[in-house]
Amino acid sequence: MAAAHFKYLILGGGVAAGYAAREFAKLALKPGELAIISKEAVAPYERPALSKAYLFPHAAARLPGFHVCVGSGGERLLPEWYSEKGIELILGTEIVKAELASKTLTSEAAATFTYDNLIIATGSTVIRLSDFGVQGADANNIFYLREIDDADKLVAAIQAKKNGKAVIVGGGYIGLELSAALKINDLDVTMVYPEPWCMPRLFTAGIAAFYEGYYANKGIKIIKGTVAVGFDSNANGDVTAVKLKDGRVLDADIVVVGVGGRPLTTLFKGQVDEEKGGIKFNLVVKLVVKTVTMLYSLGPDGFFRTSVPGVYAVGDVATFPLKLYNELRRVEHVDHSRKSAEQAAKAIKASEEGQTIEEYDYLPFFYSRAFDLSWQFYGDNVGDTVLFGDSDPSSPKPKFGSYWIKDGKVVGAFLEGGSPEENKTIAKIARLQPQAPELEQLKNEGLSFASNF
Ligand code: FDA
Ligand code: NAD
Repeated sequence: MAAAHFKYLILGGGVAAGYAAREFAKLALKPGELAIISKEAVAPYERPALSKAYLFPHAAARLPGFHVCVGSGGERLLPEWYSEKGIELILGTEIVKAELASKTLTSEAAATFTYDNLIIATGSTVIRLSDFGVQGADANNIFYLREIDDADKLVAAIQAKKNGKAVIVGGGYIGLELSAALKINDLDVTMVYPEPWCMPRLFTAGIAAFYEGYYANKGIKIIKGTVAVGFDSNANGDVTAVKLKDGRVLDADIVVVGVGGRPLTTLFKGQVDEEKGGIKFNLVVKLVVKTVTMLYSLGPDGFFRTSVPGVYAVGDVATFPLKLYNELRRVEHVDHSRKSAEQAAKAIKASEEGQTIEEYDYLPFFYSRAFDLSWQFYGDNVGDTVLFGDSDPSSPKPKFGSYWIKDGKVVGAFLEGGSPEENKTIAKIARLQPQAPELEQLKNEGLSFASNF
């Protein structure tokens, strides 16, 4: 069978793929030029919905409601949109071999695809407890959440195990969002995580104390400082209990595991340069910068080009130059996946016309929602911190935040319960990095400090 050839090929059909397709279409695209290959059976959708409204007991979100680009207030790209634009959606197709030298991808069913330009948008996969050999971790009703199929299996289990017991392993994003989702489905929820407080990769002890208190008030039990070391199951193979390292045993009808993600870069091992677990950009330029700084004083580019000509990488798999901090970073969040995808599409189109665009200048932005809570964070979570506002978990309307201060400047800001306008003010100071006053003064001024800018 002859290979199908495309001028632009996007590998992966998640958030980044959808936003890149929209950008290509904006910048003029001829029918048949662009294809998206996805292992998933559905057109690109806003993945964050899977751990939130998709799990609601009533009026749950379902496709086609949350196809991209509704998550950022944009047009909803239904499957028909792709056919109208002549964009081929090659769904339910897993690529198992990528040969970048011959510009060829091969699927599990041995179909081949060739391209002029490739955008790698394969995202992340979950880390599994079986990866560390946790005993019994392949029992039924132990769930991970990454794709819509995973969410459908979880929804079926939630319905089958009404009023049952759920154990959530992990205290990060999935842990916090899923324990709330299962609680509102009336399950009896216990969270287990090894660290002294939840979401330690972002939260300070003060921020975490609020969420832990709020969750406890909702009836969620939290066990910290230990991990799951094994699972018991019954004769049907269904999980019945979680065994903890500290010796405790928790009854369980459902277990949800959220112990982190890993970027899907294995197809490209040895073919593109990698750093921080992700695909790195333009190593050639970087090396030249290191050795001949005089000639290339601009530094590595921010156009999402990899070290292989014609190959770009965006979203969760990309380790890119974060200009604001003069550092290479990988970001596993949706805002960056959207923006990096748009940037790559723009860069490809511009290079065809012999033009250049501004390099990527990203301000990290993360957010989460659970119960009636909603927080946003912008910038960098390094340095000293101050907590301000009302962070009492029992308050009728808690509203609080935190600043991070490094080298005398405010470099990061977090806000729970902010209005859209207030969230804009914290984004602004994270970008501006103003001189910080004394910590005590900053604490007293709280959000009004950010509103001054
Ligand atoms: P994404 O994972 O979206 O897409 C990758 C696609 O590639 C998938 O369709 C996959 O099947 C496909 N693929 C991979 N390998 C393939 C192969 N070999 N062949 C074919 N197809 C292949 N972020 C945030 O900022 N706020 C939030 O609230 C949330 N919430 C959230 C909830 C849940 C449940 C998850 C799992 C993640 C989030 N995130 C988030 C993170 C955010 O969704 C994530 O950063 C982006 O989806 C990344 O976009 P990508 O397009 O890079 O990967
Ligand atoms: P995470 O990195 O946020 O959290 C992992 C957590 O796992 C750690 O905080 C730790 O508490 C815990 N852990 C590690 N090893 C453990 C063990 N052996 N036993 C028990 N706990 C253990 O990862 P995640 O929550 O699994 O999320 C996966 C991916 O999905 C990430 O890329 C994340 O960014 C993304 N996501 C993002 C959002 C959001 O931005 N709102 C929401 C959901 C998912």
